[in-house]
Parts: sequence; structure tokens; C-alpha cells
Amino acid sequence: MRVMKYFVQCSVREHLRTMFRAAAALSLLPLAFSLLAAGQAPPALKDAFKDSFLIGAALNPAEFTESDARDAAIVKAQFDSISPENVLKWESVHPEPGRYDFDLPDKYVAFGEKNHMFIVGHTLVWHHQTPKWVFEDAKGNPVDRETLLKRMREHIQAVVGRYKGRVHGWDVVNEALEDDGTLRQTPWLKIIGEEYIAKAFEFAHEADPKAELNYNEFSLENEAKRNGAIELIRKLRAQGVPVTGVGLQGHYKIDWPSVDQLDAAIAAFAKLGVKVMITELDVDVLPPAMQYRGADISANVELQPKLNPYTSGLPDSVQQTLANRYSDLFGVFHKHHGVLTRVTFWGVTDASSWLNNWPVRGRTSYPLLFDRDGRPKPAFYSVIKAAREASAAK
Ligand code: G3I
Repeated sequence: MRVMKYFVQCSVREHLRTMFRAAAALSLLPLAFSLLAAGQAPPALKDAFKDSFLIGAALNPAEFTESDARDAAIVKAQFDSISPENVLKWESVHPEPGRYDFDLPDKYVAFGEKNHMFIVGHTLVWHHQTPKWVFEDAKGNPVDRETLLKRMREHIQAVVGRYKGRVHGWDVVNEALEDDGTLRQTPWLKIIGEEYIAKAFEFAHEADPKAELNYNEFSLENEAKRNGAIELIRKLRAQGVPVTGVGLQGHYKIDWPSVDQLDAAIAAFAKLGVKVMITELDVDVLPPAMQYRGADISANVELQPKLNPYTSGLPDSVQQTLANRYSDLFGVFHKHHGVLTRVTFWGVTDASSWLNNWPVRGRTSYPLLFDRDGRPKPAFYSVIKAAREASAAK
């Protein structure tokens, strides 16, 4: 029924034609023919991986309020976990001292509950998207340690407390490390000291003792940063701090990380005894705009035509490269299905991906499994195929 609602959004014939082209491009002819013969909607990612891990997507307000009916239908048909792309960040939910705006977060959580999904909260303590007032007194001077700890606790109590038992997992601390694995010099660190990380987890646990509490970070596939994160999590757990998981964001390129780097990173975190999840998956196929390869949102490069080569569509050869890349990534994810609990895409279709505006504003990007018209891409079928092959091999 849910699949049918999505299916009626596009013309059946056109949809089948697209599915056929996509699958044919990958030599998935048997799959394409069987779908054509049965006149079926595309298979569901959440079904394909139901014995392995949850499959999620980050949603924008139009998707979870269903004003974007097409994307909402895709989400309901395909995913069993959701993350809020922006609405639970400090600047959105708590823009001024003493003023919370729970309108959109309430709608986000209601959408997840209505559709029986695993609901993620993103994110409590981050250096970006946190208003300046949090770190300053009335005169604009930095606040002292006790004041900032008090503000952090009050924020976490209010936000986590409101959704106690309803939001199932929180990204408690986001991006606390530099690329070399040392602690990032944020106002949190400068004012409170390194204990701010333990405190954030303790406050979150106090507000909802049953919620999954995760440390979320990008570029953990690189050895230096990975080692820093391992050290951090080992230390926190040794002190009894309630860290239950680590999120590898998964903002990947066509050629980074290697399959071996990814495999080693998942294995290394699994060894710590925490849950591991891929929390913000996408694969950037556009030419690199800079040498820096992380996902720090402060990067900003001027738009030039050579950085935006696919404005009128992605060539078949690049579709195929992307499909192969996704197949390789999911091969590694599946290998770790015992410890990997969730794989979440950072967006639903290419149209709404943050990569259309980062690190260059206004590019046409193709990082996800559904195209700008909401149709499954060859990469979608390669992921489904990877799931079927992995199940058959069990
Ligand atoms: O909503 C305003 C709109 O009113 C205004 O007109 C417009 C002008 O720029 O900005 C809109 O806000 C933007 C917001 O996204 C919603 O689209 C912000 O400028 C923009 O900075 C913000 O970017 C988000 C970014 O985090 C910063 O919060 C991206 O959508 C979001 O995908 C990205 O997500 C992060 C994760 O939280 C952490 N890991 C990295 C990941 C990618 O950067």
C-alpha cells in the first residue's frame, strides 16, 4: 500500500522505463525483466537489508511534513530510520536564551512514530550552528566554565527530555576532532576543557537513560583521526561515560576512502565494543574543488564551470562508476552487519543534497540513490543487488 502511494506519483510506464534503463546499465537484466513483467514498484532498501541493519535517510521539513509528497512517499517506502538534517541543531531548536522552537522537531518525531521508524536526534553539542550567545555573557565576553556547563545541561535536558523514549538515538557530540586526531579547538573545549565531551554524554543519559548515545564524526577512515577517536572513546568508556556508539558520517568520494580503509575503520571501532553506524552517507562524483577532503561545512569555493560539469545530466559512464562504488561500499557494510546497526543516507534525492551547495554553492550534484525526479538510479539497483548477493551467500 505504501509502495503504491509512491508509485502513483510517476507514470507507471515512464517509471518502468527508467528502472529498465538503470538496471540494464548495470547488467541487472534479470531484475529489470522480472520487475517489468510484474509491473512492480522498485524493491525497498529496508526490506533488502532487513536482516543486516536499518536503512535511514536525513529529512528536510518538506519531507517530514509531507508537503513534498513525492519524497515523503519514497521515505515511507524505502527507509526504516530517519535523521533530521537541520531542525534539531541548537540554532534551530534553541535560537535565543530561554526560547525553544519545537514546532518542526515535533513534526519530525511524529512522522517517524506514525511510520514506525527508528528516530535519530542530530545533534546536541557541536561547534557549528550553535548561536554565539551560548558562549557569551551579556557584554559579549566568554562565559565561565560553570555557566557553559549549566547552559549545556539545560539545553540537553530540554531537548532530550522532551523526546524521552521517542527519539531512539542521539548524536550527542559532533565533530570534536581535528584531522590529526587531536581535540578540535572549539569554544566548548576552550571554556570547559576536554571534560565537555563526557559531560554532554552524562547529561544526555540523565535525560533519557534508554536512548542510544553516539559520537558522530567525519573522515574517521583516515588513520590519524581514527586513532584519535579510538583513544577518545576508549577513555570515555573506561571512565564509565555512557557512549553507546560511534557514527562514521560517510561523506565519501569516488576514490576515497578505499575499501580497505573503510573495512579497517569499522573493525577498529567494533573492537571497542560500541555499536558502529554510517550516519550521513553520500558519494560525491563532482570534480574536487579543493585539496581538503573532509566535510567541514565552513569550506567555501567560488563556482566555476569546470567544477560543475554535469548540469544537464550524469553521463552513463559516471552513473556506472557511482553504481560500482556504492556496490563496493555496501559490500563492506554487509561484511560488518553484526556490528553495523544502521546505514543512513544524508538526504533522499539528489535534488535536496547539501552537496549541491558545498563546498561550492549552486552545483548539480549526484551523490544519492534517487535522482532529481525521485527515480531510482543505477546505484540504487547495485545496492539492492549487493544485498541480494550477500543474503544468498549466507
Ligand atoms: O533555512 C535557511 C534559509 O532560511 C536561508 O534563506 C538560507 C540562506 O543561506 O539558509 C538556510 O539555512 C541553511 C540550512 O542548511 C537549511 O538549508 C544554512 O544556510 C546552511 O548552512 C545549512 O547547511 C546545513 C549544514 O549541515 C550546516 O548546518 C546542511 O543543510 C546540512 O546538510 C549539513 O549537515 C552536516 C551535518 O549536520 C554534520 N555533518 C556534516 C553535514 C554536511 O555538512
